[in-house]
Amino acid sequence: MSMKKIAVYTSGGDAPGMNAAIRAAVRTAKAHQIEIMGILHGYVGMIDNQIINLNPRDMGNIIQRGGTILKTGRSSEFLKPEYRAKAAQNLKNIGIEGLVCIGGDGSFRGAQALWAEHQIPVIGIAGTIDNDVYGTDDTIGFDTAINTALDAIDKIRDTADSHERVFIVEVMGRNSGFIASAVGLSGGAEEILTAENMISVDKIVDKLKDSRAKGKTSSILVTAEGQKPGRAYDLADAIRKKSGLDAKVCILGHQQRGGSPTAHDRILASRLGSEAVLSLLKGQNNMMVGTNGNQLVALSLEIVTQNEKRGDTSLIQLARLLSV
Ligand code: F6P
Repeated sequence: MSMKKIAVYTSGGDAPGMNAAIRAAVRTAKAHQIEIMGILHGYVGMIDNQIINLNPRDMGNIIQRGGTILKTGRSSEFLKPEYRAKAAQNLKNIGIEGLVCIGGDGSFRGAQALWAEHQIPVIGIAGTIDNDVYGTDDTIGFDTAINTALDAIDKIRDTADSHERVFIVEVMGRNSGFIASAVGLSGGAEEILTAENMISVDKIVDKLKDSRAKGKTSSILVTAEGQKPGRAYDLADAIRKKSGLDAKVCILGHQQRGGSPTAHDRILASRLGSEAVLSLLKGQNNMMVGTNGNQLVALSLEIVTQNEKRGDTSLIQLARLLSV
C-alpha cells in the first residue's frame, strides 16, 4: 500500500520526548516522500479540523524541548461515535491515509475506534510519564519524569535530615506505581505505597519507630497519587497522630510532566517515531510499536488496550531491604 499523506498527533497528558517523536515521524516521512500533517490538541483538533502542514525544517530545535509543539488534549466528545465520524471526515477531506498517535492507552482506544469505524490506519507509540501501557517496557517521558522526581527527593532529603523529619512525597501515575517504585528505590525511600503495596498506617508507624530506635533520624516515604492527588496529606495526618513524629508532605505534581527530555527519552522517541511511520508504509495498522528489552516490537492495539501492565513489586521490596 503506498501512502501519500499521513498525520501525527499527541493526545492525553503531555510527556517529555513527545517533540522528539514528532520530529522523527516528520523527518522519516519526508525521507520516504510522504506528506505529513500535524493535528493540534489531539482528538479535540481532529474534531475541530485543526490540522497544519509540517515540514522537516519546522522540526529544528525541538528535540530538546519538553511538552508538545502540537499541543494535546483530553476529548470527552471523541468518546461519542458522531464526533469520531466528524473527525474521520475531516481527515478524509484532506486525503489523510494514516495516523501516528502519540499517547497513552486512552488515546489508543480512540485510535482503535477510528480504525474499526472508519478504516483509518493508525500506529500508536506510547507517550506517557506513567509507563503504564501494556506491551512495551518503556514509554516516552517516563525516564525524564523519574529523574525530575528524583532530583526533588534529593533536595527534600537535605531538609528532612536537618529537621529530622518524616517526608511523604507524592508522585504522579494515578493508580499505577511505576513512577513511585522507580523513584522510591533510586531515592532511598523507606517505604513505597502503590496500588500493589497498600500497607497499613500501623505498619508504616511500626517501621518508622523501629528505624528511629536503630538510629535513623529522618525518613522519606513515596506514595503514588491514586485516583486524585492528595493522598499524602491523609497519610501524614495519620502518621502524626499515631506516632507523634513530625511528618511533612510534598506533592510533586505537574513539574514531573515538564522539562527537557533525557537522552534515554530522546533516543526512545526517535526510534519509535521513525518506526511508526515505517510501519504505516509497510501497510500495518491498528498496532502499537514499543520496546521489549532493546528491541522494537509491534503489538495490536486491541491487546494493548485490553490488558493491564502489572506493577513489579520487586523494586519496592528491594527499597525496603536497603533502607535500614
Ligand atoms: O497520565 C499522565 C498523568 O500525568 C498522570 O500521572 C496524572 O494522574 C494525570 O496525567 C494528570 O492529568 P491532568 O494534567 O489532566 O490533571
